[in-house]
Amino acid sequence: MAKLRTGRQKFYNVFSYFYDFFIQIHSGHHQDETRRFLVDSAPIAGTTQVRILDICCGTGSVILSFAKKYPDALAIGYDFSAGMLQKAKEKDAAKTIRLVNGDAANLSFVDDCFDIVCCSHALYELKGQVRTEALREMKRVLKPEGQVLIMEHEVPRHPVVKVLFYVRMLMMGPTDAREFVKQGISPFTKIFPDVTLSHTPSGKSKLVICRKT
Ligand SMILES: C[S@@+](CC[C@H](N)C(=O)[O-])C[C@H]1O[C@@H](n2cnc3c(N)ncnc32)[C@H](O)[C@@H]1O
Repeated sequence: MAKLRTGRQKFYNVFSYFYDFFIQIHSGHHQDETRRFLVDSAPIAGTTQVRILDICCGTGSVILSFAKKYPDALAIGYDFSAGMLQKAKEKDAAKTIRLVNGDAANLSFVDDCFDIVCCSHALYELKGQVRTEALREMKRVLKPEGQVLIMEHEVPRHPVVKVLFYVRMLMMGPTDAREFVKQGISPFTKIFPDVTLSHTPSGKSKLVICRKT
C-alpha cells in the first residue's frame, strides 16, 4: 500500500473508537433509512449464491445489514483500517460476514466475481486518483450483470450537521472532497457506461447505481 495512505489509515484507526457514536450524532435515525435504502436497492432477491462486497466498510453496518437480509450470501467487508475492521468484528452478527484488510485502489479479488459491490459514504473521503482507481477496481471485480451501488451524502441542511460535515471534509482535504460532491455523477460516467441516480426518501443521501455492461 502506498506510503501516502498509512497516515490516513492511522487516522481511521483512531476514528474507529468513536465512529459509530459520531454517525449516531451525525445521522441519527436516518442511518437506518439510508442503510435500508441501499440494501433494498440491490437487485438480488431470489438469486442464489450471491456474492456481495462492501468497499470501505468501516465498522460493518452496511455489510451486516446485507448479511441479515441475505443469510446465504457471501458477504465481505473490505477496509484498509485494522481498527475499523476490529470494531466490525466485535459486533454481534460478525460471524455472518467476512472481513478483509486492504486498499480500495487495489482489490485482492479476481475479475467478474461479485453480484453487488457497494461503497457507503466513503468515496468522497478518498483522494482523487485513489478514488478513480477504486472505481476502476469495483468495475473489474463486478460480474457483467452485477451492480455497483454507491451511497454518498448530500450536503446537510441542518446548520449544526452542516458544520460537522464541512469539518469532516476539511480533515479529508477540502478542495478535492468538495469538488467531488459538486460533480454529481460525472466521476462515475467516466468509468461506467450505465449510471443512474436516486435519492433516499429524506433526501439526505444519494445512491449512484453503476453497471458495467
Ligand atoms: C466514512 S467511513 C465509511 C464507513 C462505512 N462505509 C459506513 O457507511 O459507515 C470511510 C471508511 O473508508 C475507509 N477507507 C478510506 N480510504 C480507504 C482506502 N484507500 N482503502 C480502503 N478503505 C479505505 C476508512 O478506513 C473508513 O472505514
